Amino acid sequence: MVAFRCCVNQMLRLTHVNNPGSAVNVSLFGVCWHRILCRSTFKQAVFKMPLNHTFAPMLCNMFSRSLSTFVRETSPIKKHFTFFRTACPSELKQRGLGYCSPRVRHVTTAPHDRSRIRNLLIATYVSGAIGATLLAAIGYRAFGRFKKRARGIEEIDEPFYGRRKQYICRYRGYTLPSSLIDTIANDVPWFEVRDDDIWVVGFPKSGATWMQEIVYLIATDFDYESAGSATIEDRFPYLEYPIPGLKAISAMSSPRFIKSHLPFSLLPKDLTEKKPKIIYIVRNPKDTAVSLHAFTRLQGTKLNGTVENFAEMFLKDLVIYGPWLKHVQEAWEQKNEGNVLFVSYEDLHRDFRGTAGQIAKFLGKPASEAQLAELEQHVSFRSMQNNDKLNYSWYKGFWDFEGTQEGFMRKGKVGDWKNHFSPELANQFDAMTAKLESLGLTFVDDLPESDVNKPEIVTA
Ligand code: A3P
Repeated sequence: MVAFRCCVNQMLRLTHVNNPGSAVNVSLFGVCWHRILCRSTFKQAVFKMPLNHTFAPMLCNMFSRSLSTFVRETSPIKKHFTFFRTACPSELKQRGLGYCSPRVRHVTTAPHDRSRIRNLLIATYVSGAIGATLLAAIGYRAFGRFKKRARGIEEIDEPFYGRRKQYICRYRGYTLPSSLIDTIANDVPWFEVRDDDIWVVGFPKSGATWMQEIVYLIATDFDYESAGSATIEDRFPYLEYPIPGLKAISAMSSPRFIKSHLPFSLLPKDLTEKKPKIIYIVRNPKDTAVSLHAFTRLQGTKLNGTVENFAEMFLKDLVIYGPWLKHVQEAWEQKNEGNVLFVSYEDLHRDFRGTAGQIAKFLGKPASEAQLAELEQHVSFRSMQNNDKLNYSWYKGFWDFEGTQEGFMRKGKVGDWKNHFSPELANQFDAMTAKLESLGLTFVDDLPESDVNKPEIVTA
């Protein structure tokens, strides 16, 4: 501290002897500022906005002024050093400057200089504090990165996601949303599962919302009143998402309904002991990719590319929760566990009542034909699209509903990929799904209209 004060005093003396307006220290800080702020990591960490829009002009201005002051001051600095080396302390004292060394703590100054010294001292402390804060921010971020790496999380800079290029990261073989990774890696594994929980799990955009509503109604003996009183997110929360969060889900009374997009290997460790009912929903990967592209845009992410480019990213495991193949394969391997039911989106389209009946049986709540018919109408695509408790309209203002002109319930079709994919791209997807055929898992990626059994009744 003593050494630091002496340095500061010395610097102040240098700055005020010949040229009271000197800003050497400011210049030096200007240089440091410029160097630090030009680092993209810092831009991300501190401002979360591109420097070139707001801060760059201001900083360039500051920097160039500081630099020119610095250059102007260089020769006087040399002069001062020579002066301090050669002048005897008594001479300095005569001029009211005193002499400062680590051993001599008292500085004698002329009264009229004191306020200037005080101001400069304050300025130096303030700029020192700013520098220290910046360094702390950089250090904090670097430490965060180091900690993540130590836990096996690899950050990915993917320009396809535009300004949100750190949208994804990699953890234990999966590409996951960076915004959820802390919860996924630290908290989800230790989440306490209950035997009477009911889970819906699936790769994003596989029809989880559709399945959630079906499961909720069957499990609650078709309680349409409670279904209409709260959003699906409140009734059937998303495990790894911050809303409502793991704490709130833990506090829910049984039986809890829980949705997750995580693959089996990243679900809570408790699932090896506890045996809640788990329904895994799967959809053909071509439609899944098209739907995920639309959803990523709906979330406000400006993508640098087309649907086809996005589908290529899907094949390269650069979309959230990928690789799709591994996700599905892990679930397929669990299908013989008594507590796991594997259902496809296309089966719900093709034979709603048969598939819903199967789900009801699995949940131990056999349903009559009339109940299933009513359920079919309630969860028809149009009905869900117009249902404020199911269509995610509560995210209006947060998601880009206006900009994308598409809602969460977008098309709800089998085979929409044909409007977007080239034959070559479709072949690449077929090659991927062929790997699952050897395991006995096949996919339907098109349905004749006659096979699509969808009542179009719109409810209020
Ligand atoms: P599209 O984007 O192809 O329309 P998730 O709920 O897993 O996020 O999946 C969303 C996808 O399921 C969307 O696909 C959505 O339209 C579709 N979906 C939701 N409810 C549906 C329903 N009742 N019938 C058909 N598709 C439905």
